Amino acid sequence: MASFGKSIVPEADLKSFTEYLVGCKRIVALLGAGISAASGLPTFRGAGGLWRAHDATSLATQEAFDESPGLVWQFYSYRRHMALQADPNKAHHALAELARRNADFITLSQNVDGLSQRANHPAKQLHLLHGTLFTVKCTNFYCNYSEENYTDPIVPALEIPKKSSGLNPSATDKTGEEASKALAEALSGTTNEVDISDVSNPIFIVDKKDLPQCPECKDGLLRPGVVWFGEALPERTLKVVDKWIAAGPIDLCLVIGTSARIWPAAGYVHEARSQGARVAVCNMDPKDTPGELHYGDWFFQGDAGVIIPEILKSVIGEI
Ligand code: APR
Repeated sequence: MASFGKSIVPEADLKSFTEYLVGCKRIVALLGAGISAASGLPTFRGAGGLWRAHDATSLATQEAFDESPGLVWQFYSYRRHMALQADPNKAHHALAELARRNADFITLSQNVDGLSQRANHPAKQLHLLHGTLFTVKCTNFYCNYSEENYTDPIVPALEIPKKSSGLNPSATDKTGEEASKALAEALSGTTNEVDISDVSNPIFIVDKKDLPQCPECKDGLLRPGVVWFGEALPERTLKVVDKWIAAGPIDLCLVIGTSARIWPAAGYVHEARSQGARVAVCNMDPKDTPGELHYGDWFFQGDAGVIIPEILKSVIGEI
């Protein structure tokens, strides 16, 4: 689990932001992996961006799936497992509360981890630009099958292996402390799992026939319902978002925990600006801004899990 120090939002920035926020009507937020970092989930770029020896983004392609469906499914099955273990943090809850209080606030999320949904973010105000880990769909071109699926593991072959225990808590060569630790580990379901994101732990590549199969056409493999590199964003979502943006002036664009490098998602910040929005960025890294900041923008450096509830407090109360 990642841990972050408590951030101090500079008082002057907090004051000017809060004064502006109370008068805001139309607000849009763009979320990236950084908002879920405080929930213990890794981001894509920078530390944590590697899964085994693979750049996480290199596994998110149709080509990678065609070449090694077993490996790509292991990667996604691991991410589903981690996401289900994680809990939404205060930033997810704060945004959900803002949405409940302001029907003119929409959130565009690049995240596929389901944490905003689990924070009860009103569904109509949450637009998933990159899909979700918890829908799966058929890869057969002629089959439109898709389903919501939270089963973990989705098929038995994708179960994360347990450390071969070899633990004998009562063995005489252990001190009392070691024996209790061994017993606790042996009894614990999760801490005893092999960390398959670490390349030094060998894994078996799962055979195609043991991967999730389409129950409808009985011909295609199922794949995760996320948007891979080179794929179009969900058409219906784009239409709704574009309509909302075009509907009138926008007061504020919150850019939270994203490196803002992936298009078209990052482009929404510029579209919001062109509708008059002032931009407030929250990121650990001061270099990660969506283009140059303008006069009147804000940059809140630090953990979104701490900063977002703090800067929204005047409108949503204590989270
Ligand atoms: N609080 C705020 N920001 C954080 C935190 C935190 N606790 N931890 C990390 N960050 C910031 C990083 O500094 C970085 O700018 O979150 C950002 C994460 O960036 P990326 O890993 O690039 O993730 P994201 O912007 O969501 O990537 C966009 O790229 O790989 C694709 O489809 C994938 O949706 C993803 C898209």
